[in-house]
Amino acid sequence: MKSTIILSTTNNNSLSKEIVESLVSKLNRNNVNYEIIDLYKDNFNPVMSQNQEKLYENGDTDCDLVKKYQDILKNTDEIILVFPLWFNNVPAILKGFFDKVLLKGFAFKEESNDTIGLLTNIKSGLVISTSESSDNYLKEMGNPIETVVVRGTLGVCGIENVEYINVNSENKSIHFEKYFK
Ligand SMILES: Cc1cc2nc3c(=O)[nH]c(=O)nc-3n(C[C@H](O)[C@H](O)[C@H](O)COP(=O)(O)O)c2cc1C
Repeated sequence: MKSTIILSTTNNNSLSKEIVESLVSKLNRNNVNYEIIDLYKDNFNPVMSQNQEKLYENGDTDCDLVKKYQDILKNTDEIILVFPLWFNNVPAILKGFFDKVLLKGFAFKEESNDTIGLLTNIKSGLVISTSESSDNYLKEMGNPIETVVVRGTLGVCGIENVEYINVNSENKSIHFEKYFK
């Protein structure tokens, strides 16, 4: 069993970092093998170049870091995303990770106008946003992360059993107790 945590914050005092620290303690306590992809620490460039967009059509890339991330994902059983909510969406660095790493032919394939997810080795996922928003507000907004990330990205790649939680100052202690302790 291997978990991969993908962290998308550069702020050392952030709630996202606090969550990752608690998750790491929990994984250590449970003897679960894990790896952290720290996108800012890796200096990941989320912008897809002209050449990369050309290569995208063939499921290829000219970026060694992308290849490294793909190797990690192919050897992952559980994926955990931790990020602050920015304009009801993921930060650009994580959006770039989706665009540049989850390539056609690697993460999904197209067959008779349908997409078939290829990352079925990943059996479960936990998507965690940190924000100032209440669950009710996010519901009113149409649950953007649930739609675009859980279903529209991970789901397309064949990753099922994904739970989404939004952690804010009001529900923090409840979520820490339930998910990170
Ligand atoms: C560019 C930017 C956009 C933001 N957009 C939102 C938002 O749409 N909804 C929200 O509740 N908070 C928003 N925030 C606030 C952060 O998501 C919030 O403070 C979060 O808890 C910070 O998480 P962190 O402590 O893990 O970095 C935004 C902050 C920034 C810098």
